[in-house]
Order: sequence, then structure tokens, then C-alpha cells
Amino acid sequence: MYNILKESHNGIGMVLLFLLLIIIVIILAKFLLKKPFNKSVKITALIGLITVHIQILIGLLLYFLSPLGLSNFSGDSMGHKISRFYIVEHPIGMILAAVLITIGYKVVKKTNLTDKAKYRRLLIYYGLGFGLIAYLIPWFLWS
Ligand code: HEM
Repeated sequence: MYNILKESHNGIGMVLLFLLLIIIVIILAKFLLKKPFNKSVKITALIGLITVHIQILIGLLLYFLSPLGLSNFSGDSMGHKISRFYIVEHPIGMILAAVLITIGYKVVKKTNLTDKAKYRRLLIYYGLGFGLIAYLIPWFLWS
């Protein structure tokens, strides 16, 4: 079970990063080309939102199953860079990124904003979420 979740978390993490980049490029192109903020924009943004939420859910399960998660918590492990990364920085930062993307997505339901304002808000929040996720993927462990 642990291995399946770990591999899924790793795989979906990479897919998510690539997907968010594509989504941001598509939304940016529609914004620059002054296309209407229609259903296809909403579906594009929704795909990103759902994938982030699935990844957070798997991350939360891993947090309780992985030897690098909650079971590794101790005073000593907080002084160790990699342990602290998995116990504190990675989970909290990733949840924050998901919150940003969720806030960004909420704009699609707003009726009192212009299309330009909706595009802007979506791009800012998705961009911040993407940046945070890219920053918190454990690249340094793979080099
Ligand atoms: C968008 C959100 C997230 C992304 C893109 C992401 C991505 C990743 C990646 C790429 C790894 C490395 C996997 C490997 O080396 O095989 C990892 C490991 C891990 N992540 Fe996440 N993660 C996210 C959210 C979370 C959350 C919310 C939690 C906990 C609440 C979490 C807990 C963990 C743990 C405990 C590991 C270590 C697993 C192990 O090697 O035993 N992740 N994550």
C-alpha cells in the first residue's frame, strides 16, 4: 500500500507540474487574445484543481504511512534538513499551494467581474500555486 501511494504521489506530482504549466499557458493565451471567459476556460482550470486535490489527498495518506512522515517527528528530526522538509515544509507549502489554486478557481463562479479581471485572478493564483509546487518538489534529493 505504502509503495503504491509513494509511486502514485511521485508520478502524479510530475504530471501535475506539467499540467499546471500547460493550463497557465492556455489561459494566458486566451487572455492575451481577448477570448471570452467561457466554459472551456472553466473546464481547463477545473482539471488543474481536481488534480491538485487528488495529489493532496494522496500526500495526506502518505504522511501517516511513510517513514518520512509523521512517524519521523521528533525534536532531533527537526534539526535534520531532509526530515524537516518532509514533516513540515513540503506538506504545509503544498497545502498552501492547493489553497491558492482553490481560491483562484472560485473566480469562475463570480458574476460581478469582467472577463479580464477573471483571467487576471486565475493567472495570479494558479501562477503562485504552480511556483510554490515547483519549489517544494524534492529536486535536491534527486541530484
Ligand atoms: C501538490 C501537492 C504535492 C506534490 C506535487 C508533491 C510531490 C511529491 C514528490 C514528487 C515526492 C517525492 C516522491 C519520491 O521521492 O518518490 C513527495 C514525497 C512526499 N510527500 Fe508530497 N507532494 C504534494 C503534497 C503533499 C502533501 C500535502 C503531503 C502531506 C500532507 C505530502 C507528503 C509527502 C511525503 C510524506 C513524502 C515522502 C514519501 C516517501 O518517500 O516515503 N505531499 N511529494
